[in-house]
Amino acid sequence: MKRRGQSALPERLRYSNKANRTTGQAKAVPTYLHLARGNQAVLPPEFRREDGRFSDTLVEFFLNEFTKAGDIVFDPFAGYGTTLLVSESMGRTGYGIEQGGKKAKYVQGLLEHPGHLIHGDSRKLLEYDLPNFDLCLTSPPYTNKSDDENPFVDYRQKGFGYGSYLEEIGRIFSQVARKMNPSGHVVIEISNLKKKGEVTTLAWDVAGVVSQVLRFEGERVLCRDEYGYGYDHSYCLIFSKP
Ligand SMILES: C[S@@+](CC[C@H](N)C(=O)[O-])C[C@H]1O[C@@H](n2cnc3c(N)ncnc32)[C@H](O)[C@@H]1O
Repeated sequence: MKRRGQSALPERLRYSNKANRTTGQAKAVPTYLHLARGNQAVLPPEFRREDGRFSDTLVEFFLNEFTKAGDIVFDPFAGYGTTLLVSESMGRTGYGIEQGGKKAKYVQGLLEHPGHLIHGDSRKLLEYDLPNFDLCLTSPPYTNKSDDENPFVDYRQKGFGYGSYLEEIGRIFSQVARKMNPSGHVVIEISNLKKKGEVTTLAWDVAGVVSQVLRFEGERVLCRDEYGYGYDHSYCLIFSKP
């Protein structure tokens, strides 16, 4: 027997998710993302062992969701430049910061606007001449709570604990918040990790720290076909301006 209101259940569930309400979309915004892997740019052999790139489809997904043509997109941990390259190919303007000199030079060589990729340090973000952005899409360097190398200087400095990592993340994203347009969004792709049986709740801790400077809107779960905890899924944490 059909209960009263039963036929409206999917619509009520859709409406209960604020993301679906505010976008005014007829289709629900998916929480679990199953996106094709791969990149149009073929990495030179010297970089292939360290290929931790976003898939082009991930960048396309969030550009479609949060930006329109002409908008400014920023990645403070630009890596091999996927955010900037896909932004340019979709008619957005990409900017980024990357501390690795070889990576930065490689990305500059592929961009239509090489000067938009700064070889620098995102901890000093406000010192650079960067425009305000509409979307910050990024994945910071990861760390386990038992690690003691500083990932913000390419793991070269020892004696840098997990608490220092989270403090630095807080400082970087409070600078990001100041460069954001009022209707802008920040998307941080990150995983929880497991090392020698110990779980580091990296994604949740980063969500907690960044929530102190930006408004947390929820997460999308990026499902991957790799095997193992920390590799088979990650979280895309979504923030807006408070
Ligand atoms: C997870 S990777 C990003 C990969 C990127 N999403 C891509 O598609 O290629 C993180 C990057 O942050 C860079 N990085 C780490 N500390 C940094 C800092 N203080 N300033 C700028 N970049 C930094 C690393 O060199 C690394 O390339």
